[in-house]
Amino acid sequence: MASLGLTLSCTISRLNLMSELSHNLPTIRVFKALSSKLTPQKPLHHHRLFKSSFSTLNCSKTLGSNLVFNDNLVVLGIETSCDDTAAAVVRGDGEILSQVVSSQADLLARYGGVAPKMAEEAHSQVIDQVVQDALDKANLTEADLSAVAVTIGPGLSLCLRVGVQKARKIAATYQLPIVGVHHMEAHALVARLCDRDLQFPFMALLISGGHNLLVLARDLGHYLQLGTTIDDAIGEAYDKSAKWLGLDLRRSGGPAIEELARQGDAQSVKFSVPMKQHKDCNFSYAGLKTQVKLAIESKNIDAGIPFSSASIEDQRVRADIAASFQRVAVLHLEEKCERAIQWALEIEPSIKHLVVSGGVASNQYVRARLHEVVARNSLQLVCPPPSLCTDNGVMIAWTGIENFRLGRFDPPPPAIEPEDFQLDLRPRWPLGEEYERGRSIARSMRTARIHPSLTALTQASQCQKS
Ligand code: KG4
Ligand code: ZN
Repeated sequence: MASLGLTLSCTISRLNLMSELSHNLPTIRVFKALSSKLTPQKPLHHHRLFKSSFSTLNCSKTLGSNLVFNDNLVVLGIETSCDDTAAAVVRGDGEILSQVVSSQADLLARYGGVAPKMAEEAHSQVIDQVVQDALDKANLTEADLSAVAVTIGPGLSLCLRVGVQKARKIAATYQLPIVGVHHMEAHALVARLCDRDLQFPFMALLISGGHNLLVLARDLGHYLQLGTTIDDAIGEAYDKSAKWLGLDLRRSGGPAIEELARQGDAQSVKFSVPMKQHKDCNFSYAGLKTQVKLAIESKNIDAGIPFSSASIEDQRVRADIAASFQRVAVLHLEEKCERAIQWALEIEPSIKHLVVSGGVASNQYVRARLHEVVARNSLQLVCPPPSLCTDNGVMIAWTGIENFRLGRFDPPPPAIEPEDFQLDLRPRWPLGEEYERGRSIARSMRTARIHPSLTALTQASQCQKS
């Protein structure tokens, strides 16, 4: 950050907000300073891009972040927080110019989960190609971009680092602003690209491999966390169940269980629904995982025998377990969602939508069941298409666009980073502040090394500005 200070004196940084938080709270830097710094180095059409985004910035300041802009921004999004290396180019009017995902399917299948060091290596091997493909497919070069957006957390540090370094290299070479993106905010906001009627405030259920979040999205960067998981996320339970059932993990465990569950009897194995006695909106999937493991052991299923080589009877038992697991795993979502909707409507009666996003939201059974919950409560369900529910670069580019319009970005990094420069990576970074009623004792004991939430940082920088 010190070196960035040399580039532009009135810095802010979404990327580096935290490092400065304890000293001087940064102010959101106005776009004009960056614009005048950058335009001389840009080809003519860039001048136009920057000018148009500057005017939308003023507009958004006046009218709030619920406006949908039809502008000419072109943003590259880079995502490497877990096991997918993804990049995409998106325009400010929501047009997806390209989308590229390289998944680590073989590694997943071989190790039965994400091994951080291997995942880092895999990202490093493909990141250049993935970004190049995204630019080629969009028929653009880096010089045509308005900004680069990149996931800075939460996720695996080793993996985040690969994407952030790539983004900074491009931003430094082409003098582009850079937006540090919260991965879970991106899962929620991509719904606004898909459904242009989706205005703040709305509710979101974000379900992935590492997160199970129920949030009230009040505005860009402002989230109230109604519930979270006290141990594992639902995606982790899908993945482990698939592994123990000897399923083909090359498309990850979720789709494998979803497919097998269609052939099974969902009532056949009596799993108990987690946390029934807790009248809150928190989740727990560790116990259900154990129930699945015990059921598999009691039926003498050998996960060493792949599903395709198992006997017909064995396959039937595995399908029954998959279907029973899925029914109860999703019932847990339904129950907590129902309560969260009631809480959210008490806080913000104007809410009309529930967004369901994250990898597990690509599951058709999950969507159908949640559709029922939402309909019972007279809300509308917004689910991005499956390719935008699982990790992707589009959601990062889009979240970059939404934040960029409000002036929440960093100036271009210097061509040569100083030796003591430390990348701002946020492996444990909550999205919102916890709603008092939803606080879980189990969770508050695990707060070490957690970054201040995105919402706390946004509020702090706004206080500074006013
Ligand atoms: O959001 P995501 O792509 O990555 C993370 O941020 O974690 O979510 C990945 C998770 C994995 O656990 C994967 O098994 C699960 O989403 N998933 C599914 C389905 N597709 C992906 N779970 C259930 N059904 C699916 N069709
Ligand atoms: Zn994700």
